[in-house]
Amino acid sequence: NYYAILMAGGVGSRFWPVSKKKLPKQFHDILGTGETLIQTTFKRLAKLIPEENILILTNGMYNSLVKEQLPSVTDNQIVLEPAMRNTAPCILLSALKIQKQNEDALMVVAPSDHWIEDEDAFVKDLQSSFDACEAQDDLLMTLGIQPTFPHTGYGYIQFEENLASNINKVVNFQEKPDYQTAKNYLSAGNYLWNAGIFIWSAKAITAEFEKYEPAMFAIFSEGEAYYNTTQEQRFINENYEDAENISIDYAIMEKANNVAVIPASFDWNDLGSWGALHDELDRDEHDNVIINAKSLIDNASNNIVRTLGDKLVVLKDIHNYIIVEDEEVLLIYPRGDEQGIKKVRNLAKEKFGED
Ligand code: GDD
Ligand code: MG
Repeated sequence: NYYAILMAGGVGSRFWPVSKKKLPKQFHDILGTGETLIQTTFKRLAKLIPEENILILTNGMYNSLVKEQLPSVTDNQIVLEPAMRNTAPCILLSALKIQKQNEDALMVVAPSDHWIEDEDAFVKDLQSSFDACEAQDDLLMTLGIQPTFPHTGYGYIQFEENLASNINKVVNFQEKPDYQTAKNYLSAGNYLWNAGIFIWSAKAITAEFEKYEPAMFAIFSEGEAYYNTTQEQRFINENYEDAENISIDYAIMEKANNVAVIPASFDWNDLGSWGALHDELDRDEHDNVIINAKSLIDNASNNIVRTLGDKLVVLKDIHNYIIVEDEEVLLIYPRGDEQGIKKVRNLAKEKFGED
């Protein structure tokens, strides 16, 4: 009774211009492994979960990309969203769909665009989380990452040791705190980053939605009769847009009382920005990462350069820059301000229709 939902509907705008609306980062081989991120994620989940129980949740415009990259997945495993509504609506909808297949289903919610090197450790933590949910069926399990700096783009999980072995009770879940708060959390010590991977029974999460998001629950429980039938997609197309645009973190995790966390035993990187990618790729002796190019480098350090094809890149007296070439855009941006790429992408879209 193990299921998974793979969320693949985000745009990945901090990876602009490579990640863009028509081809978001989860559909790229961003690490140069020969597989796209969604393919790697699918395989990783399939180590524990039967392939036919893995659902792909994505925007309607990515249907053909999903089919192309995951050819073994059937139509009933793909949920197509007619509008971007963040993660809460698609999680509720798929939990109801899964629950209709199997009343006792346990499910993992997984982002499609993360890097996890040690797959065995991941599977082990996943198994422990499923076991915990089996033992206590209203539990909402999270996986926590040891924080290394006050990142303001993550959820922070405050925990209290020990429900059992490595399972800790969560005292407080705070999504994306401001910098000062994140700093305080880091010095307090009993905080972990939320990896964005959740494990629970379909029953437990739908009950939480009923409690904290009754309007959304009403919309999607209306569809009960249609899930897993030929009418499912029609129902979604007609009703999905009515759901609130909100992430699972704000909608449920910050409010729920029965949250627990396993400190992850694997290394994790959410590949959320060019800087995060820089950390995972081969660097030269001055910490430059040059993708798709030969290079001549003189007094340059800490840069990340990505060209479209096999080029020669020449760098002199340049430090801490992101330089990315794409068919339509050439981005030259200071690494220290990389979070600003999301904004500049929106600006480019507004002014030039570039995306
Ligand atoms: N199907 C679908 N539909 N997927 C979506 C949608 C949507 O509308 N919006 C986002 N996703 C997918 C993204 O592709 C990604 O795989 C995942 O859901 C998480 O969305 P992000 O937009 O990347 O969230 P975040 O990075 O800001 O924050 C989340 O992840 C952090 C760890 O990476 C939160 O859970 C944080 O608490 C967490 O620390
Ligand atoms: Mg993310």
